[in-house]
Amino acid sequence: MKIHVVEHPLIKQKLTIMRDEKTGTKEFRELLDEISLLVMYEVTRDWEVESVNVKTPVQECTGYRLKNSKVNIIPILRAGLGFVNGVLRLIPTAKVGHVGLYRDPETLKPVEYYCKLPSDKNAQTVVVDPMLATGGSAVAAIELLKEKGHKNISFLCLVAAPEGVKVLNEAHPEVEIYTAALDECLNDHGYIVPGLGDAGDRIFGTL
Ligand code: PRP
Ligand code: URA
Repeated sequence: MKIHVVEHPLIKQKLTIMRDEKTGTKEFRELLDEISLLVMYEVTRDWEVESVNVKTPVQECTGYRLKNSKVNIIPILRAGLGFVNGVLRLIPTAKVGHVGLYRDPETLKPVEYYCKLPSDKNAQTVVVDPMLATGGSAVAAIELLKEKGHKNISFLCLVAAPEGVKVLNEAHPEVEIYTAALDECLNDHGYIVPGLGDAGDRIFGTL
């Protein structure tokens, strides 16, 4: 499986609080925001840099900048929105596209209802969604991006199920997956076990 589980004591602690059914919307949102920054740090770890000259008040030296500074962040609506502010704090110049998908509760298949993408197709593109469950939503969102010519795509989530990782790996083998946790499995309703419940409802308080 092509997956990076971002191991860090702070992520583990924050995610544990998010999993707790007693944690309310405000704290859940804040923690997601904090974790998004920590996981995004890993997503960007291997991005290439090029050297530039910089003159400090003391002398000239070699500095660095991203070789491809164009970055697209694509939240899958609605729960993916919970990642946007954290990621933008790390990369404030990123463009934000939106893909609207919801899971049909019967079939668990994604249904598309919105798509508005940034124009730069050569940017580094990071699709964000807290939950990778059956993998249907992630696969569909990345298909939409590819159909419109986008490349260099990674997928960032909070909790992944092995079933979703397999489906995403098979559909888009070049896409690197970054997650804060790889959980046990899916239950009969397509929920991640142990997971954290419905991420969208917990972020937006629509339980
Ligand atoms: C959730 C989640 C993912 C999707 C994951 O969204 O945010 O988009 O389910 O499930 P999958 O891997 O089986 O496709 P949901 O459909 O509940 O919509 P919402 O974000 O609007 O609540
Ligand atoms: N979507 C969620 O929000 N949670 C799950 O466990 C699975 C899909």
